[in-house]
Amino acid sequence: MEKKTAVGIVGGLGHIGLIQAACLAKLGYKSIAYDINSAKIKDIQRGKMPFYEPGLEELVHETMDNGLLVFTTRVTDLQEAEMIFICTGTPALPSGEADTSQVYSAIEEVARHRSNQALVIIKSTVPAGTCRKIAAFLQERDLAARAAVVSCPEFLREGSGVQDFWKPSRIVVGAPSRETAEKVAGLYSPPGIPILLTTWENAELIKHASNAFLASKISFINEIALLCEQVGADIRVVSRGIGLDPRINPHFLEAGIGFSGPCLEKDLKSLLRQFQEAKKEAKLLEAALRVNEEKRREIVHKLQAKLGGLRGRRIAVLGMAFKPQTDDVRDSHSLPIIKQLLSAGASVTVHDPWIKSPRGGRLAENDLPGVEWASSPHAAAQGKDALLILTAWPEYRELDLKQIKDCLAVPLIVDGRNIYESGQLRELGIDYQGVGI
Ligand code: UGA
Repeated sequence: MEKKTAVGIVGGLGHIGLIQAACLAKLGYKSIAYDINSAKIKDIQRGKMPFYEPGLEELVHETMDNGLLVFTTRVTDLQEAEMIFICTGTPALPSGEADTSQVYSAIEEVARHRSNQALVIIKSTVPAGTCRKIAAFLQERDLAARAAVVSCPEFLREGSGVQDFWKPSRIVVGAPSRETAEKVAGLYSPPGIPILLTTWENAELIKHASNAFLASKISFINEIALLCEQVGADIRVVSRGIGLDPRINPHFLEAGIGFSGPCLEKDLKSLLRQFQEAKKEAKLLEAALRVNEEKRREIVHKLQAKLGGLRGRRIAVLGMAFKPQTDDVRDSHSLPIIKQLLSAGASVTVHDPWIKSPRGGRLAENDLPGVEWASSPHAAAQGKDALLILTAWPEYRELDLKQIKDCLAVPLIVDGRNIYESGQLRELGIDYQGVGI
C-alpha cells in the first residue's frame, strides 16, 4: 500500500475518532490516533476494542498490522501530521448547552506542541460560531501561526459508521479560504458524493440542523401515531403512504418510543440553547423535544394501564442499546424507562443481544439497582407479567412467539418499536400493544 502523508486524530478512541483513524489508514494515510486514555490504548493494542462497530475491528487490526494506524498518548507525536482531526466529545451541560471545553483544550495542546502550522479539522459537533471563537482564542494566545481551524462535520451513524465513512451522503467543509477547504475535502472524496465547501458557520449549522430535522421527523410521526390509536389507523401503513412521496421519503418515519442515543437529543438541546442565546424562539424544535420526552412516559403508562399498576409486577425488557447494531447505551431510552418501572415498584429483567451485563454496557453497577440480566429473550420472559420491547434488534423479530407466550405468566407484549404483526399475535392469544397501531 502506497504510504501517503500523516494525519492526526485527537480523541482517537471514540466512535468518530477511531472510525476516522482506521478508515484513513486503510486509504494509505499514516493515522496517528492520539488519546489520553492509556489503559484503553493498551487494550486496543492487545486486541480489545473500546466499543463494537460493525467492520471496525477487522479494519483496526489490519491497519495496525501494516503500521499505518498507530496509537499514542504523546501529543508531540502529532508533529509530523499536517492535518489533525479533533474528535473529542461535546457532552451536554445541565443547561443543554454543548460543553466544548475538550475541543478548546485539544486544539490549544496541539498548537502549543507544534513548530509549524497544522490544519485542525473539527469533527466534533460544536455550536455555530465555535470555529470563529477558537480562531480568536488562538490569536489571543499567539498560537494562530501554529493552528488554522476548519469545520468538517461528521454525519455517520453508529452501527453503520464504517460503511458511512466509505459512502457518505455528502462532505461539508467550512473554512475561511477555498484553498484550505479543498485540501481537507481532497483527503477523501469518493466519486459521485456531493461536496459543499462553505463558511465555518454554515458548516457548523448544517450539522445541527440535520440532526434536528431527523429528530423532528421522528417526533412528527410519533405525534401522528397518537391519533392513529384513537381512530383505529395503523401508523406503519400511514407512514409508508407518507414516505412514498419522494419529497418526504421513507426514512426516519418509524414510530415508536422516539429517538435516543448520544446525538439527536443532545444536538437538539444544543440548538435550542443557540436559539436562546440569539434571543429567538424555536417553537417547532421545542415541540420535537417535548414529544420525544413524552414518548418514554407513554410506554410506561401503557404497561401500567394494561397491568392495573406496576407494583410487584415482573417485567421483561428486551433491548438496552439505543438502536440495533451497537452496544452503546449512552442516553438510551431503555435507562429512563427501566428506572420508571423500578420506581413504580416493578421488578425488571433485561436482555440485549450485545450487552450482557452492566459492565458490558459500560454502566456503573448501581445505575440500575436490582435489575437482573438474562442470557436469552426466553429466559427474560420466563414467568413475567409482560414483555416490553425497547430496541428493534433483528433477532427479536425472529423470535418464536408461541414459545415466548408459553414462557410468560401473562401473555402481554408492549412493543415500543412496532416489530410484530398485530394479527399474528392476536391469533396466538397474545395481548399486543404497539405504538400507533
Ligand atoms: C445520528 C444521525 O443519524 C447521524 O447522521 C449523525 O452523524 C449522528 O447522529 C451524530 O450526530 O453523530 P445515530 O445517533 O447514530 O445518528 O442514530 P440514528 O440512526 O439517527 O438513530 C437515533 C435514534 O432515533 C435511535 O434511537 C433510533 O431508534 C431512533 N429512530 C430512528 C426512530 O425512532 N425512528 C426512526 O424512523 C429512525
